[in-house]
Amino acid sequence: MISTYDFGMIGLGVMGRNFLLNVADHGFSAAGLDLDAEKANALDEESAGRPVRGTTNTAEFVAMLRRPRKIMLLVPAGRAVDSVIESLLPLLDKGDLIIDGGNSYFEDTNRRQEYLKMKGVQFLGVGVSGGAEGARRGPSIMPGGHVGAYQLVGPILEAVSAKVNGVPCVAHLGNGAAGHYVKMVHNGIEYGLMQLIAEAYDILQTIGGLSNPELHEVFRRWNAGALESFLIEITADIFAKRDDKGDGWLVDKILDKAKQKGTGKWTSQNAMDLGIGIPTIDAAVTLRGLSALKIERKQAAPHYARAVEETPRVDKEQIVAQVGEALHFAFIITYAQGMHLLAEASEEYSYGLNLETVAKIWRGGCIIRASLLEDMRQAYQEQPALRNLLLAPAFHDALLHGQHAARAILKTAIDFGVPTLALSSALAYFDAYRSERLPLNLVQAQRDYFGSHTYERVDQEGVFHTEW
Ligand code: 6PG
Repeated sequence: MISTYDFGMIGLGVMGRNFLLNVADHGFSAAGLDLDAEKANALDEESAGRPVRGTTNTAEFVAMLRRPRKIMLLVPAGRAVDSVIESLLPLLDKGDLIIDGGNSYFEDTNRRQEYLKMKGVQFLGVGVSGGAEGARRGPSIMPGGHVGAYQLVGPILEAVSAKVNGVPCVAHLGNGAAGHYVKMVHNGIEYGLMQLIAEAYDILQTIGGLSNPELHEVFRRWNAGALESFLIEITADIFAKRDDKGDGWLVDKILDKAKQKGTGKWTSQNAMDLGIGIPTIDAAVTLRGLSALKIERKQAAPHYARAVEETPRVDKEQIVAQVGEALHFAFIITYAQGMHLLAEASEEYSYGLNLETVAKIWRGGCIIRASLLEDMRQAYQEQPALRNLLLAPAFHDALLHGQHAARAILKTAIDFGVPTLALSSALAYFDAYRSERLPLNLVQAQRDYFGSHTYERVDQEGVFHTEW
């Protein structure tokens, strides 16, 4: 066996195969390994005529690769990653590189990095976003780890990534688990935006009375404006899809229980650990949990029927305009929460993140790509130490203006009993962040009252306790 292949992939599901075909499109030879012969064969069939080969034999796979070997894993996060690493280790040489391209938990990435360092094997934790289509045509790639390891594989990742104005949507993001951390927060933002869109849909349908074709038109129009983004674009498509198993529209036939694989929850959990508020992402995670309680919701529904029927319908055009502006406002707030978390985490974990770079590589290829990200990139370029996008002059007018639409539509939604946890959390976050004085002086007083936890004063230095 001649060791000539430039790049190896373990895990030949649709994502892995597509990623390899993309690698081959850019002139690199690539080997794929999957223990499932059907998947290895599928790679051979799909790549016919190109320097790509699939195998089910780990030793053969490793022997095919040019040294230092570059082996990417696209296998389910968790134990599978550890077991693949164990199966590789006896076959690898010092200096070979393993790239974990799955949605691994960042603490696992830290652990694997330490472990592989002891074994003399290089390791990168890399977030890959864009789904199967992105893997094939150009994903956004978020690599973290030692910069020397990145340089080994950088040219391949840069070639296969999405491009925005010719700029690759990949860059070495930082040390350690920086790549998987950034991907985790990407997914947290993804959860937030998806929940906001779902709430907008609920308001437009339940209160505005919009039909699916009308919703399609509204989202299509929004995608041509300030809300331009992948998620708005696919939402427009979804409303136009007819049910191929019966009458009507497919979206109406889909069970309203949203599943989750954990990345959104991890974002909320870690933000709590760091003491950073990301309430819109938290709300999205919470709603996935509530959505799963279908049986209980069905039991509760007749006891607390919505007052929708009794309330007069509102003006359609006005409601569409308000929801659009409120959504734009809440999108900015959701990105602001995620970016704020990244800024804090970068300090806490010494990632050395550059938020301009993060915004830059999210402009294309990934699920949260949006025209807003170019504005964010510019904001961080102008102020690299920016703590929160709410403090960026570029977003000032949009937020100042957008809050009115958010307030108006939320009042309507509350009157109609339409749940808007994410949208209201975005407005409440804005209201809290821009409040010089919050009522938490009272919380401090209570803590001191019942637990002698002490408090600081606004007019004197020091720490105080009162016998209440
Ligand atoms: C991406 C997606 C991808 C995956 C999500 C789905 O960036 O391409 O985020 O990673 O589709 O993890 O997550 P849930 O199953 O938790 O919704």
